[in-house]
Amino acid sequence: MSHDNTNKELIANILRLKEKRKAVILAHNYQRAEVQDIGDFVGDSLDLSRKAAEVKAPVIVFCGVHFMAETASILSPDSLVLLPDAGSGCPMADMITVEQLIARKKEIPGARVVCYVNSPAAVKAESDICCTSANAVNVVRSMGDDRILFIPDQYLGRYVCTVIKRDMYLWPGYCPTHVGIKAQDIIDQKKKHPGAVALAHPECRPEVTAVADEVLSTGGMLRYAHTAQADIMIIATEIGILHRLKKENPGKTFVPATGKAICPNMKKITLEKVLRALEEMKPEVSVPADVRERAMSAVNKMLAL
Ligand code: 13P
Ligand code: SF4
Repeated sequence: MSHDNTNKELIANILRLKEKRKAVILAHNYQRAEVQDIGDFVGDSLDLSRKAAEVKAPVIVFCGVHFMAETASILSPDSLVLLPDAGSGCPMADMITVEQLIARKKEIPGARVVCYVNSPAAVKAESDICCTSANAVNVVRSMGDDRILFIPDQYLGRYVCTVIKRDMYLWPGYCPTHVGIKAQDIIDQKKKHPGAVALAHPECRPEVTAVADEVLSTGGMLRYAHTAQADIMIIATEIGILHRLKKENPGKTFVPATGKAICPNMKKITLEKVLRALEEMKPEVSVPADVRERAMSAVNKMLAL
């Protein structure tokens, strides 16, 4: 059977079972194209958190990475949250544990903790407020002059410091996919495409965001592309985003800063695994009640801003 026919059959089975299970499929902008296309909703981390809080579905199939499914479970505790590949983690989220955070907090008494959502639920539970790449600047601004420990992404933290001209204690975490993007990649693409506008994700290194024209979350890039004057845009983030950018802006050209910016965990989710998750109603992601209560408070403070 051809690849197209196999996909058609898989999609038909997913849609049939999704109906039967009364499931909603949420997909991140970095997912494989065919997975994004079966999503009831596709978005960045902030959009997906809002959606998870809003949908009253008995089953949420989360096509993304583990911390995103955890956030969905925190915000929608009555839903069964399925992550079609249980091994789809985020190496940045794994760069911090709750024990390490508690120890660091003791070293800087009085500091308030701003926690990027790319983190485990137990770490969120020990934090004052969460943020995503879309709202990190506003969240930190809302903290006034308080001493802040920003976890776990040093580059997002550093970017926020540059924008609002303040210092924060930074955790030494990073995203392996984004740190692989080099400033020279953008410079080379700009030479090839004169007049192109470069959009970079704030998880990129400072020398990369410095040569970009705009620094945006994945959702921010999509919104920017819709209204941009430029016809050509250079995209410095995980290349899964190019699918939506191209689909929603057929008259414009999008080039990746580098084709090597691939998040292997995001790509673990396939149509086959989505179907299997709906058949077997697993793997499930859930958060223990005591952790959930405290993590929800940090996430809700962010959503309320
Ligand atoms: P966004 O919130 O911009 O979608 O980013 C999530 C992420 O994991 C970036 O690597
Ligand atoms: Fe984590 Fe980076 Fe993958 Fe985003 S792209 S999920 S931060 S490893």
